[in-house]
Amino acid sequence: MRILTGIQPTNNLHIGNLFGALIPATKLQEEHELFMMVADYHAITTLKDPKRLTENTLFTAAAYLSAGIDPARTTLFVQSSVAAHTELAWILQTIARMGEANRMTQFKDKSQTGAEKAPVGLFTYPMLMAADILLYGTEGVPVGEDQKQHVELTRDLAERFNRDFGETFLIPEPIIQSNGARIKSLTEPEKKMSKSAPSAKSYILLTDEEDMLAKKIRGAVTDSEREITLDDERKGLLNLITIFSLCTEYTKEEVSERYQHSGMKVFKDDLVMALNQYLAPIRMNMQEYSDDRAGLLEVLQTGNEAAEMIANQYLKTTRERIGILRP
Ligand code: TYM
Repeated sequence: MRILTGIQPTNNLHIGNLFGALIPATKLQEEHELFMMVADYHAITTLKDPKRLTENTLFTAAAYLSAGIDPARTTLFVQSSVAAHTELAWILQTIARMGEANRMTQFKDKSQTGAEKAPVGLFTYPMLMAADILLYGTEGVPVGEDQKQHVELTRDLAERFNRDFGETFLIPEPIIQSNGARIKSLTEPEKKMSKSAPSAKSYILLTDEEDMLAKKIRGAVTDSEREITLDDERKGLLNLITIFSLCTEYTKEEVSERYQHSGMKVFKDDLVMALNQYLAPIRMNMQEYSDDRAGLLEVLQTGNEAAEMIANQYLKTTRERIGILRP
């Protein structure tokens, strides 16, 4: 099965990106054909700093490698390097309906300051994402819960295109983890952990060192109850138990049973230790990969070429199907 996913290089990556998409992708590459993309054309809908865009693009690729993406078996590439993405995105914009695009909750969230001032690209972004997915005959898309709606839109667009112009695209499925698909903010546990959150205390970055992890976890909002229990209503605690289970292989039930009577302090201290043990090797790799700029560029160039060959083939068929003349 072909799998594709991507992360926007808007900022440093956080553990929501890691547990929701990146780690699942590293596991999927063992049995499937994986396309792992740095979604830089998505990032420019919000990031307007050229230097940071370049650096973050390299940094995101380094994060993929550090978490275990293996370029020998996976195609690691940069979205903007394959021109077919924006071309198919345009075609899909002529297929998608305003009503559909209007229903995308992420646009509503991200344009909170007012849709009037939001870039048009933020509105049409799901069609670019659909193009990313459809250009590779992708069947599975590992993403966090917040991207599920975009994959569903992709399915609808593919089905409509196939119906109107003949079988062209495979219909992709979102692959959502049962644990880790929605890591919450540490400071406002009813919201998801997000790179664009105003407070840096609300997220944990892949690069956070132990003392920073300790500060953030100790400051994480929980509640005044003493016992550690698994309770959907105790959102802050549930989030910490989830993170604990993700970085240890214990189930959430095992974590809560183990710490039931230990008190919040011991629980949080052990979580810091477990999280640090989990992130330390990734942090170290990150340093190494980031220092080897030439090596990173070479991996990306190879990936870009491989991706382009496949994407161009799909684009060619799509153009033919809709009657585009190439004299
Ligand atoms: P982005 O860059 O916002 O997030 C990257 C991935 O991380 C997941 N994620 C989370 N998972 C769990 N808990 C969280 N708090 C959390 N926050 C983010 C996201 O669901 C995502 O899987 N449009 C996409 C990037 C993209 C893409 C694609 C993904 C572009 N083209 C094609 C898949 C296929 C985005 O903005 O993700």
